[in-house]
Amino acid sequence: MTSRPRIRIGVIGFGWMGQAHTRSYLRIPTLFPERSYDPELVMISDASAERIEQAVESFGFPHGSLDWNDVIANDDIDVVCICAPNMLHEPIAVAAAEAGKHVFCEKPVGGVPAQTVRIEAASRAAGVTTGVGYNYRWAPMVQYAKQLIEAGELGEITNYRGRFFSMYGADPMGLLSWRFMLGEAGHGVSTDILSHSVDLAHMLVGGIERVVGTGHTFIPERPLPKPGGTHYDRGEPGDPTGAVENEDYFGAMVVFDSGARGVFESSRSIVGPESQCAFEVYGTKGSLKWNLETMNELQLFLSSDAARGYTTVYAGDRYPYHGHFVPGDANAIGYEDLKVIEDFEFLSSVAADRQHQPGFAEAIDYVSVQDALLRSWESEKWETVSRLAPR
Ligand SMILES: NC(=O)c1ccc[n+]([C@@H]2O[C@H](COP(=O)([O-])OP(=O)(O)OC[C@H]3O[C@@H](n4cnc5c(N)ncnc54)[C@H](O)[C@@H]3O)[C@@H](O)[C@H]2O)c1
Repeated sequence: MTSRPRIRIGVIGFGWMGQAHTRSYLRIPTLFPERSYDPELVMISDASAERIEQAVESFGFPHGSLDWNDVIANDDIDVVCICAPNMLHEPIAVAAAEAGKHVFCEKPVGGVPAQTVRIEAASRAAGVTTGVGYNYRWAPMVQYAKQLIEAGELGEITNYRGRFFSMYGADPMGLLSWRFMLGEAGHGVSTDILSHSVDLAHMLVGGIERVVGTGHTFIPERPLPKPGGTHYDRGEPGDPTGAVENEDYFGAMVVFDSGARGVFESSRSIVGPESQCAFEVYGTKGSLKWNLETMNELQLFLSSDAARGYTTVYAGDRYPYHGHFVPGDANAIGYEDLKVIEDFEFLSSVAADRQHQPGFAEAIDYVSVQDALLRSWESEKWETVSRLAPR
């Protein structure tokens, strides 16, 4: 029997993401036999006693605490995985890094750019390995798109279209969860789902030099939340309401460092699209399109085979990571499988004692663009992207 060093993990926040990461840690040994470590669940923290109970009873954490400081103070923890609301990322991530723990933080790593800057500075000073939850990078068809672009199959990239259209705030009866509040989420979609779109563009096309953009809040009031609910829960007409404090929509035009042009749109209150994290990449010799709603497919057009038009490429075990989950062609994988790949890769970086990508340096890449976008919304002019921390 192979004996592997253990990587001991504490998870903070046991909602959607905390549970998804925990399931990933449990699945890594069954899916990645080549791993050089074994993940071990050590401690869970959540503000809700019921969620701690669920984590202990059903997921196998031996300990839980209502106070996240107990995770930081625990000497038997190597990695802290932060899945609490955005504005809590800073105190937790800074304390974890200062305690010498490796830190995985869900995107966007802080609710406003200044927080991301402070988190990245603290983790760089501490010399710990960092990771960020830009999980769409890991989809096999997105990895294949990256390979095609890097191999020059699309020629020189001329323009890029990125969007993240989500329905989660489309119903005006959707509750005023933490995501709609400045003090808990920070900014709206520019902090939340737009970060995924721009991160994918950074990975596929490279840095962004200048931007012009604008935001808007379409649904200014929502029913007040109920304890223990999720951000998919609904209120009833006549329920007491409160004000939405951040933007529902952000749209932007950009110029990449390469000279390529791009457009981005994100909305959380759109009717029709359900979880459309999507991109189109156009080059001088071809183009490709990907959409999370059909994440096991890539649309590919190559001018060398123009008569065929766009071709649908189905994900299968000949593409990166896919065969870890299912063998053969066109047997689909799902959303949480991307989290497993993400956690496998992050823990592999921890085990190898190397910096990880995407880590907090890549979180800075995004918030530097976000900072320019927010300035542009205010000035109504093009703004230059200045990197908010040294590389
Ligand atoms: N990568 C992705 O695709 C993705 C998807 C969803 C959310 N996220 C990110 O993950 C993070 C969490 O989002 P979620 O959807 O899981 O939210 P959620 O509301 O489902 O869960 C948040 C959890 O944090 C807990 N919490 C609140 N205050 C706490 C405290 N002081 N100490 C410990 N726990 C506390 C809440 O009780 C809740 O269980 C956010 O930063 C969000 O942006 C990323």
